[in-house]
Amino acid sequence: MENPVIIALDFENAKKAKVFLANFDDQSPYVKVGMELFYAEGASFVRWLKEQNFRVFLDLKLHDIPTTVHKAMKVLGGLNIDMVNVHAAGGVAMMKAAKEGLLAAGAHHTKLIAVTQLTSTTEKVLKEELLIKDIDLNDCVSHYAKLAKNAGLDGVVCSVQEAASIKNVCGEDFLTVTPGIRLSGSDTHDQARVATPGEAAIKKSDYMVIGRSITGAEEPVSTYEEIFNEWRESYENNSFPTLA
Ligand code: C5P
Repeated sequence: MENPVIIALDFENAKKAKVFLANFDDQSPYVKVGMELFYAEGASFVRWLKEQNFRVFLDLKLHDIPTTVHKAMKVLGGLNIDMVNVHAAGGVAMMKAAKEGLLAAGAHHTKLIAVTQLTSTTEKVLKEELLIKDIDLNDCVSHYAKLAKNAGLDGVVCSVQEAASIKNVCGEDFLTVTPGIRLSGSDTHDQARVATPGEAAIKKSDYMVIGRSITGAEEPVSTYEEIFNEWRESYENNSFPTLA
């Protein structure tokens, strides 16, 4: 069984990320490189990760006109990354252009997923700032997921609470990549909607994006393994521990 954890490398530079990754000397976990690290270090750090056999999710959340996104994805597709994302709010033409950009680079294996609504967007922001008034947040997330599916994307970033309904709408093979995961009894930091690894397994999360619970742990490797074990036990036993 594949370990569904993607470790968020939320470090300010490659040096710090490499010190952290040295803990994993005999295994190469799936890692996520976000804007901070990519803007600091650029493509060379991504190339280094791939040379070391890490799987890489490049979390750059592209959102621009279709031509620009096509060209940008053609460049990113050349990095041999395993997953990359765009904002569904860019629309179907933009998402299709993103997919075509990857294919133009020969990146047929690179999963392309969409951000639906950011988890920082509340019902109030949706209605009062974005003026999306006729639909609630959950329905908006499902709608954006459907658009992503229709545009030929492979999945979405979503909360654990949204994963099962997205699978209902978009099919079991449509990937759900979920942040906001915490082991029971641990710090929730600034995440508003959190779930345990076991809950993520039952609620149909395909991948769990986990940052501080692992990067800030005294024993990152054993925490990484503990998370996988909880996920696997829940998956096999169809029950999960709660956060309380
Ligand atoms: O430290 P923590 O486990 O909260 O990190 C979660 C990671 O997932 C961060 O890199 C964060 O940017 C990312 N993320 C998120 N919520 C989203 C999309 C991405 O927390 N909706």
